[in-house]
Amino acid sequence: MTRSAEEVRAEFLSFFEARGHRVVPSGPVFPLDDPTLLFTNAGMNQFKDVFLGTGARDYTRAVDTQKCIRVSGKHNDLEEVGVDTYHHTFFEMLGNWSFGDYFKRDAICWAWELLTEVWGLPKDRLWVSVFAGDDKDGLGADEEAERLWIDEAGIDPSRVLRFDRTDNFWEMGETGPCGPCSEIHIDRGGPDTDPADGADPLIGVNAGNERFIELWNLVFMEFNRVEGGALTPLPAKHVDTGMGFERILSVLQGKNSNYDTDLFTPVFAKLTELTGVPYGATDSQSDIAFRVIADHVRAVSISLADGALPSNTGRGYVVRRLIRRAARFGKQ
Ligand code: SER
Repeated sequence: MTRSAEEVRAEFLSFFEARGHRVVPSGPVFPLDDPTLLFTNAGMNQFKDVFLGTGARDYTRAVDTQKCIRVSGKHNDLEEVGVDTYHHTFFEMLGNWSFGDYFKRDAICWAWELLTEVWGLPKDRLWVSVFAGDDKDGLGADEEAERLWIDEAGIDPSRVLRFDRTDNFWEMGETGPCGPCSEIHIDRGGPDTDPADGADPLIGVNAGNERFIELWNLVFMEFNRVEGGALTPLPAKHVDTGMGFERILSVLQGKNSNYDTDLFTPVFAKLTELTGVPYGATDSQSDIAFRVIADHVRAVSISLADGALPSNTGRGYVVRRLIRRAARFGKQ
């Protein structure tokens, strides 16, 4: 039975609720009190103060789905949108959180349990990555995470890959909370593909191949990057995980594209009704336009709903550009 978007979202929240997490609402799509960000670019934005030790909540474990927009700054996916089938300007990020509570072990084991036992994803199609260390920051490889994946989660050691800071050290921006991370990728290859390809640096994990997509990022927040680039330890260690909702949904619905899930198909049906052009026909340019428009419609709607109006400056200008860009793709 295919799960709907609504069901998958609810299953994620209740899995962690059953493990002592408070279900909390998404923050707005733009942070109200953080001048370093135009838009909320990650689930951790609304908890930045907790990580830095300048704020607190009355819970130490949380789970949520955060509305994110990545169109500016350090995390900007705009140019990929529409050209591929798995990047978005607006997306939901499913996340579980530990504020000075559990750390790597539980984060890793629960992620594996949810994906492979609850949702039944095939283990021989999953790959995980861990931080390889960084000389400049004086950090060693994350051998602890590596060991936990192998010994506690029971993953085949050949499926645990090391990557450098570009892929496996998560930072919110130029400054702010950060730490080594461990990602879970899925190989969506078909029956004739070699399940060992994930380790191939040319076509495998993190090679920019649509066959291997990152599903979930588990960040072990330990540091604050301060002005000038130095790392200082945070007052406590935290867990910040982020799973791309549109991506996991496409996997669970057996689709090769996020746009073939029930989050997007109603928008496409409306576009076809308005234009008379079908999606998925032979003209790939019109398919790209469909994806760009559907993506931007969601981003703009959510921005407007949260109170960002089109304007000539700042986030209002981004909203305006998205409207213009969608219109341009529509016309062309
Ligand atoms: N902060 C991490 C990310 O955005 C995990 O939530 O990928």
